[in-house]
Amino acid sequence: MKQFKAKIISNRKIAPEHYILSFKRPEKERRIEPGQFFYVKISDSYRPLLRKPFSVHKISGYSIEILYKTIGEGTRALSKRKKGDILDMMGPLGKGFDAVRRHKKVMLVGGGHGVAPLYALAKQLEYPAVPAGRLSIFIGARTKDHIVCDKKFRRLGARVYIATDDGTRGHKGFVTDLLTRKILGSRDKDTGEGRGKGHTAIYACGPKEMLKSVWKVARRYGIPCQFSLEEYMACGIGTCLGCAVKTQSGYKLVCKDGPVFDAKEIVW
Ligand SMILES: Cc1cc2nc3c(=O)[nH]c(=O)nc-3n(C[C@H](O)[C@H](O)[C@H](O)COP(=O)(O)OP(=O)(O)OC[C@H]3O[C@@H](n4cnc5c(N)ncnc54)[C@H](O)[C@@H]3O)c2cc1C
Ligand code: FES
Repeated sequence: MKQFKAKIISNRKIAPEHYILSFKRPEKERRIEPGQFFYVKISDSYRPLLRKPFSVHKISGYSIEILYKTIGEGTRALSKRKKGDILDMMGPLGKGFDAVRRHKKVMLVGGGHGVAPLYALAKQLEYPAVPAGRLSIFIGARTKDHIVCDKKFRRLGARVYIATDDGTRGHKGFVTDLLTRKILGSRDKDTGEGRGKGHTAIYACGPKEMLKSVWKVARRYGIPCQFSLEEYMACGIGTCLGCAVKTQSGYKLVCKDGPVFDAKEIVW
């Protein structure tokens, strides 16, 4: 089991409900992929009882970052942990994104804290893998206070599109409205045809309803998608079967077979 003690380097608030926690990279883990997650024991007491999963947000030689939103007991307790504190962790766990580098255009779609793993992926896909201007990120959230990381993505050269439910920032409505517009805009103006197989790829993470809508649009235009799924987890290592999702080839485990799946594999 990949269990280790992680020393917190920093735990900073980046928005009213969002934090970035940086910890020392586990020494033995040479390979950590965007889309994989760490399973964190947040406190030494029994509350919260279970570990909590968080995707890798940024990978560097010395440290790992996770980006989290405070939504309940565990994440609120995590926000109180300080520099120098030690966290019991397991990871990196699961299978990450298959960062296919041949696509000319890459569209990332993040709903709420779903942007977290997409930043690590965007870093991996950075120029020259994806030429400048070919990477777009669509960020959707409830309000402007829940939009995070947009500046970071811009610094990577990505085009950033924002949607909020209440219209306090960017487009008022669903992030998939913007995605559809962009996909239609990138099609041949005369024929309405796409630019051929392998032209565009979509990677997304966010609420299930958002992923369903992304898949609906992508399937219509034949665009391959990889989605990072979130399910309630107990063991995190494939033994309790608590995180099973239905796929075309039977039930699969988000913690072990995922969290990243090819969208066409999922039974929606
Ligand atoms: C593979 C994976 C990667 C994740 N990566 C991140 C990340 O990078 N950043 C981040 O902020 N969060 C991430 N999450 C979600 C995160 O694990 C939960 O937000 C966290 O466990 C909530 O713990 P809590 O004790 O604060 O809230 P709880 O008290 O457990 O729950 C508070 C509320 O959130 C709901 N909730 C909790 N967990 C989930 C879930 N998995 N799916 C849907 N609803 C849920 C509960 O129903 C409840 O309404 C990830 C989850 C998975 C499975
Ligand atoms: S959380 Fe136990 S099998 Fe996935």
